[in-house]
Amino acid sequence: MTAVRPDIAPKQAPEATRFPTGFVWGAATAAYQVEGAAAEDGRTPSIWDTFSHTPGKVHNGDTGDIAADHYHRFRDDVALMKQLGLKAYRFSISWSRVQPTGRGPAVERGLDFYRKLVDELLEAGIAPVATLYHWDLPQELEDAGGWPQRVTTDRFTDYAAIMAGALGDRVATWTTFNEPWCSAFLGYGSGVHAPGRTEPASALRAAHHLNLAHGRAIEVLRDQLPAGAQTSVTLNLHQVRPLTASAADADAARRIDAVGNRIFTGPMLRGEYPEDLLADTAHLVDWSKLVQDGDLAAISRPVDVLGVNYYTPTLVSMPEKGESGSGNDVHGASDFAPWPGSEHVAFHLAEGKARTAMNWSIDPDGLYNLLMDVTRDHPGLPLMVTENGAAFDDYVSPEGRVEDPERIAYLHGHLDAVQRAVADGADVRGYFLWSLMDNFEWAYGYSKRFGTVYVDYASQRRIPKASAHWYSDVIRRHALPP
Ligand code: NOJ
Repeated sequence: MTAVRPDIAPKQAPEATRFPTGFVWGAATAAYQVEGAAAEDGRTPSIWDTFSHTPGKVHNGDTGDIAADHYHRFRDDVALMKQLGLKAYRFSISWSRVQPTGRGPAVERGLDFYRKLVDELLEAGIAPVATLYHWDLPQELEDAGGWPQRVTTDRFTDYAAIMAGALGDRVATWTTFNEPWCSAFLGYGSGVHAPGRTEPASALRAAHHLNLAHGRAIEVLRDQLPAGAQTSVTLNLHQVRPLTASAADADAARRIDAVGNRIFTGPMLRGEYPEDLLADTAHLVDWSKLVQDGDLAAISRPVDVLGVNYYTPTLVSMPEKGESGSGNDVHGASDFAPWPGSEHVAFHLAEGKARTAMNWSIDPDGLYNLLMDVTRDHPGLPLMVTENGAAFDDYVSPEGRVEDPERIAYLHGHLDAVQRAVADGADVRGYFLWSLMDNFEWAYGYSKRFGTVYVDYASQRRIPKASAHWYSDVIRRHALPP
């Protein structure tokens, strides 16, 4: 029998439909997407400041200069989180705010922002979950070569030590990197993200250095954090599916699984890079030089929890003659182009499925399968859904409300998938909705709204959407509504 928690007693759901005891309900954001205050209190540009200020890189010329102004409004935002009943808040730290050049001593004013934010959260009974890196490398480190350079891992290790020292007494859950695949492949491969370089070999080098920086940071966090603190990394594991049952399509899926997933899970969770990845990419990098003695032991230092972000599956095939992975607008294609070996894969949109405003197909079974695949491949590994959610074209009604039934349906379907995975043996510890509030959606600027809270950017007014009230109710029940 699970003990009855007093906060959910009034709307007790039947035992079978409830989430596990201790399951964490949260929402997530990232520094550059919400904070604003880009040049305040000593903060200097990150690669995303430079990129967004470069004409043509971000939709409508939008930048994160002001964003949702969370830097100044965090107290109100925490009060709103409390009102919604959130148990945890996943945020990221802007490296350029605490160590503006990416080197040397920390700026106290920058650290103070995070100290205040964390104190406010703790005061409200909300657990802070801190991510060290959500894509915003200090520009000076990019100028020195960025993630393709091994020295950047030294800088990241120092930064991790600074943050563990500043917040280790009050933050119990730490994540090294958010979606390092995006940093490596969108940042240095396709160039659709900062710093906007299109160098396939650099993408692979960046991936190795992100892995190494992760492992070295885990070591630092372990050394410095009090016993009981949890360490993690968040990956966007692609739920890759072949278009047909042909051997050629299976091979296309294998390639994407290698360069999209196993390039991270291999070294992190098994202590080795997959043989097929090394073979597929041997023409681009000399892995025997890139991976130095001791690297794999460092990268595979155990994490307490694996964070997974899921939005939509990735459907691939062997290209027909004349068809190619790049040059079409299917989600996945431009992301992977020019990924190493892209000529061997074409990307497709699933037929007959509803789509979000990102044109991503809605497929909760993908989340179920993802959680079950990871559980099968890495038995006993605790998981956390660190992001899941959807963008829709939300608007404020004349009565001042934001009705978002599609988002409610999306969340319901995906939470049901989590529950099914838990019932079938996946050890899922919690769920973070992306996103707490509308924010800067990278190359799409403010045109895509992922928030469960609407942000009117002109006034910075927050309006909880219908989905926020729905989610609040789920949290209170600790179960999906009947
Ligand atoms: C994943 C990223 O971590 C987050 O920053 C982004 O906004 C969402 N996906 C939606 O695209």
